Parts: sequence; C-alpha cells; structure tokens
Amino acid sequence: MRSSPLYLEPRLEPRLRSVLESADFLHTLVDALGSPLNVVLPEQIAANVARFRAVYQRHHLSGGIFFAHKANRSSALVRQLTVTEAGIDVASLGELQHALGAGFTPDRILATGPKNPEFRWLAARTGVTVGVDSRAELLELAVLVGKYGLPRVRVLLRLSGFEAPGVTVLSRPSRFGSPVGEVAGLLEAVERHRDAVELIGVAYHLDTVGVAEKAVALETCVRAMDECRRRGLRPQVIDIGGGFGVNYLADGGQWERYTSELTSAVLGRRPALTWQGHGYGLRAEAGTLRGALGLYPAHRPIAAEAYLDELLASPAPSLGRPLATLLLENLYDLHIEPGRALVDQCGVALAKVLEVRHTPGGDCLVRVEMNARDVSLEEHGVLMDPIVIPRGGGRPSGTDPVAVYLIGNLCLEADLITRRLVHLPALPSPGDLLAFANTAGYFMDFSADHALHQPIARKVAAYRENGSWRWRLDTQYWPDFATGEQQ
Ligand SMILES: Cc1ncc(COP(=O)(O)O)c(C=O)c1O
Repeated sequence: MRSSPLYLEPRLEPRLRSVLESADFLHTLVDALGSPLNVVLPEQIAANVARFRAVYQRHHLSGGIFFAHKANRSSALVRQLTVTEAGIDVASLGELQHALGAGFTPDRILATGPKNPEFRWLAARTGVTVGVDSRAELLELAVLVGKYGLPRVRVLLRLSGFEAPGVTVLSRPSRFGSPVGEVAGLLEAVERHRDAVELIGVAYHLDTVGVAEKAVALETCVRAMDECRRRGLRPQVIDIGGGFGVNYLADGGQWERYTSELTSAVLGRRPALTWQGHGYGLRAEAGTLRGALGLYPAHRPIAAEAYLDELLASPAPSLGRPLATLLLENLYDLHIEPGRALVDQCGVALAKVLEVRHTPGGDCLVRVEMNARDVSLEEHGVLMDPIVIPRGGGRPSGTDPVAVYLIGNLCLEADLITRRLVHLPALPSPGDLLAFANTAGYFMDFSADHALHQPIARKVAAYRENGSWRWRLDTQYWPDFATGEQQ
C-alpha cells in the first residue's frame, strides 16, 4: 500500500448484513449454482414499501406506491410485492406479462414508458392504467378501445419540459412525455375521446437528484390539474415518478476523502487511483482541473423515503406553501414510482475469486468469475467496495490492507469490474467470494448478457425461516413459502 486505505464501505442494514455474515450459506450457493450469482431478499422490499407509506402518513396524504419494475427482473421481488399494498410500474410488454403472472391485478399496474403496439394492446385489454407519453399515443389507445369495444382506459398524461416562472431553476430536457405547453391540446383530445379514455391525472418522472427541479415539476402539475378542472374534467392523481435515490455508503467521511484524493490523483499530486489515468469525468489541463465528476453521489444521507419527505416539505416555488399542503388542499392522490429506492438493501451479487496476480508494473489484479455487465456499478457511476467472504468461513489469508484492480472474466482488455483501485482490508485468495452488496437496483441484471458464451448469473431468493437463512431459485419463490420472519 502506498498510503492509508481509501475504503468505500457499503451501507448495510441488519437483513443484508446477516446474509453477508452467513459465509457457509453463500459459499454453498455459489458451489451449487456457479459464479456469478445474484441473491435477492424479498422480505426487504416489503419493509421498504412500509417506509414510504410512513412518509405519506406523516403528510396526511394518500395515493399509490408503484415499484418501477425495470430496476430488477426478479420474480421473487415482484411476487413478494403482491402481498404488500404496493402496485407496480411496468415499462415493457414483458414486464406487464411478468407482473400479471406474479399476481398483480390490473388495478395495481401502471404502464409507463415508450410502448410498442403489443404492449399498448395488452395494457388496454387488461385495463391497467396507462401513462400516456404523447397525444399520438392517446389517439392510438382510443382507436384500440373503439375497435375492440374495450372498457375505457384510465390514463395519466406524462408531462415534461417544466419551467419555473421567474425562478432560475433549470429543468433538464426529457425525450419522454408531452411538453407542458401542449397540455391544452392534450386535454382537448381527452375530451374528444371521453368514451375511450378516462383521465385520472398527470405525471412526470425526472432523472435528477435535484429537489428544486422536482418542486417546479410538481407545482406545474398542480396547475395542470387546475386546468383540467376548469374544463370540467375530474382527475385526482399526480404521479411524480421515481428518482428518490439510495444512500449506498456507510460513511460520508470516506466518500469525501475518496473524491478529494481522486481529484489530487487526476492532478498528478498523488499516485494514481484508477486504471490508466481514468478520471471519472475529471481531467487535468496544464495543472488545472477540468470536467465534472460523473459519479453517482454514493453517500446520500437524504435518500429514498427521506427524499420524498424533503420534497413534500419543500415550498412550492411560486405559491410558497409546502408541496404536501398543495396536494392536501386539493385532495389529490400522490402516486410514486420508486425503482432503485424500493429495492434498497434487497440484494447482493456474488463472484468467486479465480486468480490473484501481480503485474511487473506493481499492480495487483484480482480476477473474478464475473464480468463488468454482471455487476454494472461502474456503468452507473456507483463506487462501493465489495466484501471479501473467505472460503472456509475464516479470516482472509492476507493480513494487511491492499489496493487491487478487479478484473472480469471476458477476454477483453476493457473488462474491469471497476476502473478504480479497490482498497480491501486484506488480500483475497482464489476460492474466496467477493460480495457486491446492495446491487438489486439496476446493478444485477439490467445489463447482463451472454458475451463470450459466459453464463449470466442465476438468481436466488433468500429468506429467514426458524432462525436460519433458506433459499429458493428466484423462479420458485412465492410469498407464501416465506415466513416473513423479522431480522
Ligand atoms: C417513468 C419512470 N418511473 C420510475 C422510474 C424509476 O426511477 P428510479 O429507479 O430512479 O426510482 C423510471 C426510471 O427510469 C422511469 O423512467
């Protein structure tokens, strides 16, 4: 080690910590099912739903919590969700079929995102609520309803391109939804096709961590609802999408220190912290730092339900009253579509260490039976250390902190699990497991593929029964088998 370790330790809640401490259990699973292996914890998703609901209660609000399915393909998580009060937000034909097959009834399903004709057809046929992206889509739905004599389809109009009057809050452009300026035209279409569509509300989803931007969007939606009422329409729902975020790291101090050391490394003021000078968006030009750090803010003390709480308590940018009060005064329901935040602490990706090698240049490479797409933390800009789970349940064979590069199983120079040096308390050995914690939201199966005919990870659902961890293949898990035992 060239200097003191720069750890980025994951934040672990009791259930996830408990499974990670069950070394024999995890090694047995990987021995049986191969590496990589994804483990999901369905009981945690139910706990996460309850945390969001507590925020609604604090603000005296009602409305639906819809899991954005895209965050994880797991059947176990979705099936477990059916026995909570939550609904599900599906963004493809496959996700809709999956949700229906898991036991969600159409009244608990929202179909959002870009749709192909088959997706739109099944959504209309089964009677799920449709988040309508454009006027053209509204008309297509109306045609379907007319042609097949379907019941009226409940719709939410997705809006975008919000602008704060007189306030300098920049709203990022979105390729989804209809521009706010087109609301009048959309409402005319709704009125014209009253017999085919029932407007239940308006919606947005903004891919940002900025509360100010979302406050502008939410207030604009309230105004759009006013316009609906003026026209005699009676929508009741404002759907604010997802994007509540997750706090991935246990220690804010580690994050601050890491990012400042990374900056020094890019400026050449300390030894490199990344593979071949990669700067995560930063670069040095004649001794000056340029660019912007393109990383997820992995330490976020206000995330998930706490972020929703903060948003609802924020003043509406022009009306001034808290956003929750605006919703309450109008008796509007608030729908949310959290993806990442609802599967916080719900899973872990396991990889077996195959080789530990030292290069002539002095780097230590740890090669694992997994590739960068199997755990796409890097792709999403989330920096978080794996946990070493030694074989045999003992301590790692190494005794001193090390800094290693984690390399994947593809015959491809670029296949690094992460391009940064990962600091570990001790050097792992072949046969040990690396556990990437808290990967259920987008990191475990969103990007995985069969490049080089490498297998993609199998998935198992782990749950507690009589004080022990038990498991089933993800596809074999149904809620009634789990005891719901509390950690
Ligand atoms: C329409 C919609 N809703 C919800 C989400 C979920 O976002 P997150 O996982 O950040 O909560 C997304 C993500 O892309 C989305 O497009």
